[in-house]
Amino acid sequence: MRAAPDRECDARVLDEIHASVESYYSEKIIAFGPVPAGADWDSIITQDVRFLQLLRICDFSAPLALNDVGCGYGALLSYLSRYHGETEIDYLGFDLSPAMIAQADRLQRDLSRAGFRVAAHSPRVADYSVASGIFNVRLDHPVETWERYVGQTLVDMHAHSRRGLAVNFMTPDPVNADPERLYCTMPEPWVQFARDRLRSSAKVVAGYGLREFTLLISTPDGGR
Ligand SMILES: C[S@@+](CC[C@H](N)C(=O)[O-])C[C@H]1O[C@@H](n2cnc3c(N)ncnc32)[C@H](O)[C@@H]1O
Repeated sequence: MRAAPDRECDARVLDEIHASVESYYSEKIIAFGPVPAGADWDSIITQDVRFLQLLRICDFSAPLALNDVGCGYGALLSYLSRYHGETEIDYLGFDLSPAMIAQADRLQRDLSRAGFRVAAHSPRVADYSVASGIFNVRLDHPVETWERYVGQTLVDMHAHSRRGLAVNFMTPDPVNADPERLYCTMPEPWVQFARDRLRSSAKVVAGYGLREFTLLISTPDGGR
């Protein structure tokens, strides 16, 4: 098992990663439109299962502000209006891909208290931040570089989350533990990263029928 990264990417590498990820997902949404395949997912069922796990970090009994990191075409906002319509949610989705945000704006323009932006870093502090699927496709970046990038992204999410954050990761396939261009990991390095680098406790949610896990990180001290 690899250890969690102990340093960040330099700015040039970070820009290269963002540009390649943006280009990969822009191609998907342009090819398939605002449906799960447009965000590189198999189905709305598995997309919703992921949202269900990530949103375990949130307390829906009171109004809340939520950052959706790598929001794609805005499927989480639809999920929230279907399943959490009783809670007042100040939602902000942001994504590297202008083509994704164009679709999100088009789909969601009638919902108030919701916004979408093209951005690579959290534009504001919210109660919670969630990210579904943003670490899975590493393209041609070496695993070590990708892990530094994942760590850096978690630090940014943590600094912009008053109460907690949640992210998901693919776990290794026993037949092919290191598939080309994908990032698969066991939970332990990232639980350790949360403890040592974010000074936060992390809970692992697994066994929900997908080859992945969700990390719920509580930030009771306001993420700072
Ligand atoms: C697999 S898609 C999932 C989209 C959405 N979360 C969903 O579940 O429908 C991942 C999205 O994250 C975006 N993304 C990846 N890394 C990002 C980052 N560091 N900052 C902002 N957006 C990012 C990609 O452009 C892509 O739209």
